[in-house]
Amino acid sequence: MSKFADLFERVATWADRHSPQTLFARALIIIVVPMLLLQALSAWWFYSQRGDNVTNRLALLLVRDLRLLIAMRTEFPDDEHRYWIINHGRTDLLLSSVRFRSGIVPPFQSPAYFDIVAREVQGALEADLRRPFYLNNTVGNDQLMIEIQVSDGEVMEVYVPYLRLTFGSSFAYVLAQVGLALVLFGLAIWFMRRELVPIEHLGVAADALGKGRDVPDFAFKGGTREVRNAGTAFQTMKIRLSRSIQQRTEMLAGVSHDLRTPLTRMKLSLALLPESPETKELADDVADMEHMIEGYLAFARGEGDEETAPVDLSDIFEDVAAGARRDNAEVTVNWMGDMNVELRPIAIKRCITNLVANALRHGKRAEIHATRGKTSIEITVDDDGPGIPEDRYEDVFRPFVRLDESRNIDTGGSGLGLTIARDIARSHGGDVTLAKSPLGGLRVVVRLPV
Ligand SMILES: Nc1ncnc2c1ncn2[C@@H]1O[C@H](COP(=O)(O)OP(=O)(O)OP(=O)(O)O)[C@@H](O)[C@H]1O
Ligand SMILES: [Mg+2]
Repeated sequence: MSKFADLFERVATWADRHSPQTLFARALIIIVVPMLLLQALSAWWFYSQRGDNVTNRLALLLVRDLRLLIAMRTEFPDDEHRYWIINHGRTDLLLSSVRFRSGIVPPFQSPAYFDIVAREVQGALEADLRRPFYLNNTVGNDQLMIEIQVSDGEVMEVYVPYLRLTFGSSFAYVLAQVGLALVLFGLAIWFMRRELVPIEHLGVAADALGKGRDVPDFAFKGGTREVRNAGTAFQTMKIRLSRSIQQRTEMLAGVSHDLRTPLTRMKLSLALLPESPETKELADDVADMEHMIEGYLAFARGEGDEETAPVDLSDIFEDVAAGARRDNAEVTVNWMGDMNVELRPIAIKRCITNLVANALRHGKRAEIHATRGKTSIEITVDDDGPGIPEDRYEDVFRPFVRLDESRNIDTGGSGLGLTIARDIARSHGGDVTLAKSPLGGLRVVVRLPV
């Protein structure tokens, strides 16, 4: 039992690998292949079984007619009756021609022919006539020539049109069948397309949602229940998702905002205290916290309602580089391929700016490089600084994590730069990862789907 299941599974896997990848094509195959098979089978059956039977009957009837002619000729051998017989053979028995001549029929050896009709006639003659005969199916004109020994010195020669021996318009039958099949095939394609359009829409919408792009509301009115359900589920998911993201950002922004007031109060109280190393340390901590909160608030604000738009990424790179060069930094930019993508330009600019700022803070020069692949654009930001130990690669993405422990605002930021960069990339359906740079420092890789 399990062997069968195994075999089935293997066949299914094979078919899966070797059949077209679109649902449309597959559905069509699933419908059309059995239909064509059925039709071919029934056509074959019709021709081979019924067709043979009909030809066989017609051949037997022909031999009966010939026997009648022979009987008449034997019974009325005079010349007048000869014309009479020939005439009736032509007009009433639908023979092309009938001729009586003296002589002997040549010996007949059945050839290896593929002519079903002639074969049937030969069979019928052998079975039902019991006289020497000669059969020729190569006389052309859609006729069959038969010679039969009527009496000792006389031969009857008849030409039989094939029309008398076949059951007619098989061509029309085939044509009707093919035509009907084509019409049904066309209808099937049309209906199938209609059913599949919503699924395509759903795929496009899900893809756009994953890339953080605007997804218009949609509801399937027509279509199958399964597809409508999937559409509704997607719509609900989309709404819940955006609601939960919004809620998270708003809550954190609220908390940060509320923390500002007590912090300000603490700052004031500290200023009133007499100066000592302890109060200095406390004041530094408070300033640090303030800095972090400002950073977070800026982040939460930025996450607002920016819409995606088609932009040229290379413009953004040049902008960021120009900004850095104003501070006398060495930044190079180069890219390969089409840099036009749909994304949130301000957010992406912020992401790249953060990375370049990191690079310049830790190294002397930065290199921005971008290449377009089949499904994504890969942006690398390299620097010649000290880099990051590999086991800390994931840590630095966590909010407020900084590797230099100095906690000094002058030498470092708040530790949100990479967090924000990754958040932005992920909201576009991409990601940010770290690696070693050929320049000696850190390489940050930003991948954005296109
Ligand atoms: N290019 C780099 N080379 C070496 N270390 C880096 C590099 N980029 C980041 N780091 C390390 O990762 C830590 C986290 O970086 P991140 O950008 O998140 O924060 P930050 O730069 O300290 O502050 P912010 O970017 O918010 O001003 C940094 O403190 C630094 O130690
Ligand atoms: Mg930074």
